[in-house]
Amino acid sequence: MSAHAAPQKKVTLGSLAAKKEAGESLVMVTAYDHPSAQIVEEAGVDLVLVGDSAAMTVLGYDSTVPVTIDEMLMLTRAVRRGLSVPLLVGDLPFGSYEASDELAISTAQRFVKEAGVDLVKIERGGATVDRARALVRAGIPVVGHVGLTPQTATALGGYRAQGRTADAALAVIEDALALQDAGCSMLVIEAVPSEVTAALVPLLHIPVIGIGAGPDADGQVLVFHDLLGLYDGGAAKFVKRYAELRGAAVAGVTAYADEVRGGLYPGPEHGYTMPADEAARLRELLAAR
Ligand code: KIV
Repeated sequence: MSAHAAPQKKVTLGSLAAKKEAGESLVMVTAYDHPSAQIVEEAGVDLVLVGDSAAMTVLGYDSTVPVTIDEMLMLTRAVRRGLSVPLLVGDLPFGSYEASDELAISTAQRFVKEAGVDLVKIERGGATVDRARALVRAGIPVVGHVGLTPQTATALGGYRAQGRTADAALAVIEDALALQDAGCSMLVIEAVPSEVTAALVPLLHIPVIGIGAGPDADGQVLVFHDLLGLYDGGAAKFVKRYAELRGAAVAGVTAYADEVRGGLYPGPEHGYTMPADEAARLRELLAAR
């Protein structure tokens, strides 16, 4: 665990608010299974997001759109079993909340009841603001997501930075303010110029977690596979790689394959033995068959 204020006590919305107030940066990272949950917990992060980026990083889809509620629930439950300190955020997948307040509430309740999430995340402003309000009224804490919203990237002109003109930036800021007014506990802001985040943060009292949104957010989020160099796909400009684990993993599996093929693995130290008298008796039993 790092020397920098790693949390030990269960993180709460209150403790996050206190950190924001004290000017301490919040750390969020994604995780998608039990070992990644244990790793990020041990690293002392504040928040863990089971992002629908799982569609691409662990399920092999070419966008976040196809991932289903059941796939997300299975991954989220595995992460839940690996966490005790950070807050757990579940990402509601595309098509599971947009159409009505009833749909949003019943999907979010599944994430709370069946996967034990502390908050759910939903994307966009517009009609999502109404969904956020309904979820909050139903007692479910919500994280909004503005700027680049991958579930609707096609409508935004692809995976590209948002809010690059004054008018477009104002639209992002208005979405963020509307989500706060609807009762969101927190916002993720993705792929916007730093100036937009710097203008937005002083207007909000809830924490703003940035990804590709510059240094002025209250915290940062990155995708586990991106920051560890585990994912082979092209990385966005904002990704910083803190390790290159894919190369190490390929080298490890290649060495295993070489040793199996070369008769070097398993060695005697990897096997079990039978007492000599039992081995002799087994030979007798086989001979008598
Ligand atoms: O799905 C995801 O991982 C996300 C983060 C990139 C914020 O939404």
